[in-house]
Amino acid sequence: VRKVKVMPKAQYGGRHTVTMLPGGGIGPELMEHVKEIFRVGGMPVDFEIVNIDPQSDGNLDLEYVITSIKRNGVAIKGNIETGSLDTGIASRNVALRNELDLFVNVLNCKSYEGVPARYPDKIDIIIVRQNTEGEYAMLEHESVNGVVESMKIVTAENSERVARFAFEYAKQNGRKKVTTIHKANIMKISDGLFLETSRRVAKDYPEIQHNDMIIDNCCMQLVSNPHQFDVMNMTNLYGTIVSNVICGLMGGAGLLSGRNYGDHYAVFEPGTRNTGTSIAGKNIANPVAMLNAAVDMLDHLGHKTHANILSRSIRKTVIDDGIRTADLGGSASTSDVVSKIKKYVIEETSQMKCR
Ligand code: NAI
Repeated sequence: VRKVKVMPKAQYGGRHTVTMLPGGGIGPELMEHVKEIFRVGGMPVDFEIVNIDPQSDGNLDLEYVITSIKRNGVAIKGNIETGSLDTGIASRNVALRNELDLFVNVLNCKSYEGVPARYPDKIDIIIVRQNTEGEYAMLEHESVNGVVESMKIVTAENSERVARFAFEYAKQNGRKKVTTIHKANIMKISDGLFLETSRRVAKDYPEIQHNDMIIDNCCMQLVSNPHQFDVMNMTNLYGTIVSNVICGLMGGAGLLSGRNYGDHYAVFEPGTRNTGTSIAGKNIANPVAMLNAAVDMLDHLGHKTHANILSRSIRKTVIDDGIRTADLGGSASTSDVVSKIKKYVIEETSQMKCR
């Protein structure tokens, strides 16, 4: 059985160094807020800041970022623009996940009570997504003029790793059911392998119920009856679609964080991976998804107290005080939300020092 817990790397004096990749769009301004909150909260993390120029067609920046993450073991990341069709530049986000073998992406989709959402009742779903192959293989070519082939790669090894991650996650977190999402009725060999592998892995977890559903029905079920889902297990493209659907139901791209794991490295980022370019530089982006990524990162590094302080401060601001950006129906700016979170972090941290 492969280990599903990636070990963080230790540093002298209990502090960790983490790679920070701000990315494009709203990434850089949100990372400034992360840094400031970590400073005032005395969070035991130092950031190594690295950048990737989305326009450059060389891979030097990417190699530098990969070296940095390999050295530090952990990163927090904004998304890098994938560019328009005519640039022909492959996605650096995908390349990074592949190079680091971050084979699984996990989204904890838990409703924020009191936050206006399309779906008013509580949702609590875990998405476990294959993160390095499938439709994201980036293997496309024009075989003859006007005929394009795009390869979807599904391997038994990666299907097993992701399915095992889903079942282990369910077992370790008291979840009852895993639903495998696929389109094996049409892609009988590729999605068929993913489904068959999941069924085989399910036999090792008799205490967890396993069912499956085709992706199209899944989208309909998600908007009509999301409560039937507990842990969801799926290939790469279906994963991003389902993540966006659920985030849309719960309040949009600005709330949830996503975690990327391999056997050696972990990368934390906003769940839907949008760049938010059209709202960049206007002080209106919701900072919560990026701050939740910072909570996940602190938790992963073992700094549980700091993770809890930041998580509580976010929830008190957004849920109890109702200080929210426009995407959540509020009128606060990014800095209004961050200031209140900062205030709570400072309060809690000073109480911690007094004790
Ligand atoms: P976008 O960045 O334009 O965002 C979609 C919508 O969500 C926009 O209305 C935006 O204003 C809003 N939004 C995003 N983050 C927000 C925040 N923090 N606070 C408030 N509102 C927020 O998204 P789009 O078109 O999906 O992608 C832009 C770039 O991101 C492209 O380069 C794309 O390739 C990349 N990308 C998007 C992914 C996705 O799942 N949507 C996944 C991977 C890459």
